[in-house]
Amino acid sequence: MHTQQQIERQTVLTNLLTEHGHRYHSMDEPTVSDGEYDALLLELTDLEKNTGIILPESPTQRVGSRPLEKFATIKHGMPMLSLSNCFTEDDVVNFDHQAAEAVDLSVTAWMENIVYHAELKLDGIAINLTYIDGIFHSAATRGDGTTGEDVTAQVRTIRNLPIEFHGNDIPKFIEIRAEVVIFKEQFSRMNAMLMERGEKTFATARNAAAGSIRQLDPKITSNRPLTILCHGIGHHEWMKNYDNQSDICSAFASWGLPMAPESKLVLGIDGCIEYYNRIKERRDSLPFDIDGVVYKVNRIDLQKKLGFRHHDPRWATAHKFPADEVSTTVTSIDIQVGRTGALTPVAKTEPVQVGGVMVSSFTLHNFRVLDPYLFL
Ligand code: IVH
Repeated sequence: MHTQQQIERQTVLTNLLTEHGHRYHSMDEPTVSDGEYDALLLELTDLEKNTGIILPESPTQRVGSRPLEKFATIKHGMPMLSLSNCFTEDDVVNFDHQAAEAVDLSVTAWMENIVYHAELKLDGIAINLTYIDGIFHSAATRGDGTTGEDVTAQVRTIRNLPIEFHGNDIPKFIEIRAEVVIFKEQFSRMNAMLMERGEKTFATARNAAAGSIRQLDPKITSNRPLTILCHGIGHHEWMKNYDNQSDICSAFASWGLPMAPESKLVLGIDGCIEYYNRIKERRDSLPFDIDGVVYKVNRIDLQKKLGFRHHDPRWATAHKFPADEVSTTVTSIDIQVGRTGALTPVAKTEPVQVGGVMVSSFTLHNFRVLDPYLFL
């Protein structure tokens, strides 16, 4: 492709991805699958590398989207960053080698010595929790990475959130990075109830979690089956100096914070790949959605040495699963009438296995998927 054409394509992709990003982050109504979004993003990243031009509005330069205006805002003590993505084993090997170079270890020494903290990549909504003297103080969404929406009142309603820490070494101030999710079973029940009441249903558990947190009325949030799972640390004033990511997670758990399950210390790339394959096989039997796994260099001194590149840490990466997509045949479409008179089109299909569940009826969201601009 000629450079001019490449730049034009960059503009088209930038607009398209910005629109999809807005639908995903701010409206909780995505019109493309995560897989399609990632493919478009990859195409744009490659073009940017080829042309050496990055448009100022390019989604490769942004994290999330602007906070909604209706909520007050909170500035994070430390920016909430994203993770680089690996889609293949080669990507993981490259990530590891780049990290090895950055800390100036030979590849062999690195591969022999490095311990990664392998974790589930929870497919929920990112939340920053702030505790002062061990008491829950505030909660914010990621927003643009620097400033998020103040959802303290909404998050306070989540049953498994500790309002007060217990135990020892409680920090004066700490930001806890967490993910709000809805368990699969509770999601199905919640959607069935919403449909019965003639209210808007959600396409995925992630959208439902995001939609439930972004309710101006916390009473509505409190009726939604939300669960919070913690995985990381932000800004803190903590006397204790921990050497490893795993020690931080143990301290969090000892205070009563609900930690994401299945985390494991693994040795080198082989350990990472083994963890990925094991979790991928069990993905469907997990009670909540995940879209991959995350590898974090366990040693905090190495994390500090590695630092960040643009918006991503060099000491962590996400290893994504292929998108969970299936095809089936629509046999009929019914229009369900809710109690309030709201109409919901529901497709009956040949039964198909998706996410470990056999499904034969789908609420039809996202009619705009047929908009011609999506086929540019
Ligand atoms: S670590 C600088 N660990 O994925 C470290 N993130 O694509 C950044 N996420 O915004 C995050 N599970 O909301 C981390 N075990 C995990 C995670 C996780 C889910 C989300 C998180 C983050 C996004 C990055």
